[in-house]
Amino acid sequence: MKPVLVLLVSTAWTLTGAQYYYQGLMDYLENRLLAIEDRMQFWHEQSHRYHTELLDFKKLTAETMDGLRKEHSMLFKDLEGATVRVDRVEREMDYVETQTSPRACTNKADKVVERGVWGLEESREEEEDEDWEELQPRVSDCVEIISGIRSVKILKRVGSPKGMWTRDPKSSRVYVFNGTSGDVIYQFNSVRDFSGSPGVTGSRQIRLPSEWNGPGGAVYNGYLYYIKQEADTDVQVVKYDLLRGSVTDTAMFPVESHATVYNLNPEIVADLAADDEGLWLLYAISDSEPNINLAKMDPATLDIEQIWDTRCPRENAEAAFVVCGTVYVVYNTRLASRSRVQCVFDVNDMVISEEAPLLYFPRRYGAHASLKYNPEERQLYGWDDGYQIIYRLTMKRKLLV
Ligand SMILES: *[C@@H]1O[C@H](CO)[C@@H](O)[C@H](O)[C@H]1NC(C)=O
Repeated sequence: MKPVLVLLVSTAWTLTGAQYYYQGLMDYLENRLLAIEDRMQFWHEQSHRYHTELLDFKKLTAETMDGLRKEHSMLFKDLEGATVRVDRVEREMDYVETQTSPRACTNKADKVVERGVWGLEESREEEEDEDWEELQPRVSDCVEIISGIRSVKILKRVGSPKGMWTRDPKSSRVYVFNGTSGDVIYQFNSVRDFSGSPGVTGSRQIRLPSEWNGPGGAVYNGYLYYIKQEADTDVQVVKYDLLRGSVTDTAMFPVESHATVYNLNPEIVADLAADDEGLWLLYAISDSEPNINLAKMDPATLDIEQIWDTRCPRENAEAAFVVCGTVYVVYNTRLASRSRVQCVFDVNDMVISEEAPLLYFPRRYGAHASLKYNPEERQLYGWDDGYQIIYRLTMKRKLLV
């Protein structure tokens, strides 16, 4: 009986012991679970915070990006504004350049206007002619110098990049010399006829008895004066009667055959200009001679009356013209930029250097192949890359008269 009791008691004890053990285990597990729960709660909170922070960060980034975008567009606008301003400054510089010729005429009409071919109607042009006459009464004793370029008119484009065109001041007929040599010239009855006809149709074709060399001819009072130079011979000046169609006179010119007068237009052997005062010839004696020479000839007989060294260099010279006994030499660069009158020579020594204008021509396409002055209209007939251009000039009286 006793061992059974002992067994029972011992079993009960053991049971009680196991109970305690399990209870303890349960407590421990519960605590651990609570701890894990706490930890989970903590992590949850942490991740929530991170999430919120991430959202905030995203928002901030978006705002910053927006701001950057706005700044960028503002910068862009500023830049555009700056470009416009630079353009304006450049245009003003152009204007100032044409205005700052020493003691330039402060006449109202004295400004450069760049106009297209089609922008100017004939009727308006006539009106302007009247204005022009009123503003600048004709000075008969010819004591004028150029004070500025008043306007530009691009008439048309005909022929090759190089050439020459001019208008007889006495008959208002227009003559076109296409290219750099040939024995044909085209005659139109007026500038209007020329600009109105396609190409050279509508012109009278004149075939000369010999070739003209270089676009350096001149037409005055029904006579054409041109340079003739046959292979390795002396340069000749030919006077040709356009009405009768015959040569009336020729004169030799003792210059080196390969010396050309303008460094940038080597096709021009010598350049002629005719006006009321006579016939002028611009030439170079030889290649070693750096300056442009001027000769005054009798237009009737082709006698040389006087010779001058203009002291204007041939280097970088593009063209030249004579106005009232004053030579204006136009210079440019080999890569054509803006043509400008940079050297002036007066045969009467009346133009003092301080009043000689530094004249800038408006921006164009290429470079002048020729510039011919018309004393009646005070206009320059220019040939620029095949375009025929008219520059109107403003004048002032020479200071010492
Ligand atoms: C002008 O001359 C060029 C060659 O120098 C020629 O191709 C062209 O047909 C000429 N134009 C006229 C109108 O004579």
